[in-house]
Amino acid sequence: MNVLHLIANPKPSETSVSKKLALEFFSALMEKDPDVVVENVDLYQNKPPFVSADALNYFWRPVIDPAYIPSKAEENAANYSNNNAQAMIDADVVVLTMPVWLNSMPAILKAWLDQIVVPGKLYRMGPDGPVPTHHIRTVVLLVSSDSVYKENDPADGLTPAIRAIFSWIGVDDIRIAWADGQDSERHFDSAERRDMAIEAAREIAEEIVDD
Ligand SMILES: Cc1cc2nc3c(=O)[nH]c(=O)nc-3n(C[C@H](O)[C@H](O)[C@H](O)COP(=O)(O)O)c2cc1C
Repeated sequence: MNVLHLIANPKPSETSVSKKLALEFFSALMEKDPDVVVENVDLYQNKPPFVSADALNYFWRPVIDPAYIPSKAEENAANYSNNNAQAMIDADVVVLTMPVWLNSMPAILKAWLDQIVVPGKLYRMGPDGPVPTHHIRTVVLLVSSDSVYKENDPADGLTPAIRAIFSWIGVDDIRIAWADGQDSERHFDSAERRDMAIEAAREIAEEIVDD
């Protein structure tokens, strides 16, 4: 099993709750199946650029014009995408480690997805919309937040966005370990909430090996 781990958090591991979840997730995963192959990508060490007009042409012009040949500038604009998409194409499972920022995912992760989830790499455009060309089985979210978000909370702009993005490439198995209520000033039980999320992360790791 190939696991792609995308880390969208600039904080050091010692002070990050979401990175603690990731540590526990991957130790449970490796205990259960030492043959799992993990590729760790720290997005702050390998920052995606925002998609430019040239990159848009490179990704989308072939959809409407099979004879399109990219210019040198358009090819250069797609370098990040071309150099980094293979990890996602090869993945059976994608793990996303992040805090909640402004009720959503950190912008660096969205920028990465904008570069990678493009036609010709993970899907092709059919008459009825995107048709996945690679099979990612499961996406795991390891998330931390100060607030408590209830089920289907309208303030949660993270989970629906991830679900919608990955539905383009045919992934509907999204598993979540979420340490919410991490502001201990507002939530007396923040430590218990973190421990519950750690347990959930470890359980998800074991389940995805068994699936
Ligand atoms: C820029 C920024 C924006 C944030 N926005 C939110 C938010 O909208 N909702 C929330 O619950 N917490 C928010 N937080 C708090 C973090 O999500 C929370 O502290 C989390 O536990 C950090 O996880 P980490 O320790 O893995 O970085 C924000 C923090 C920062 C730095």
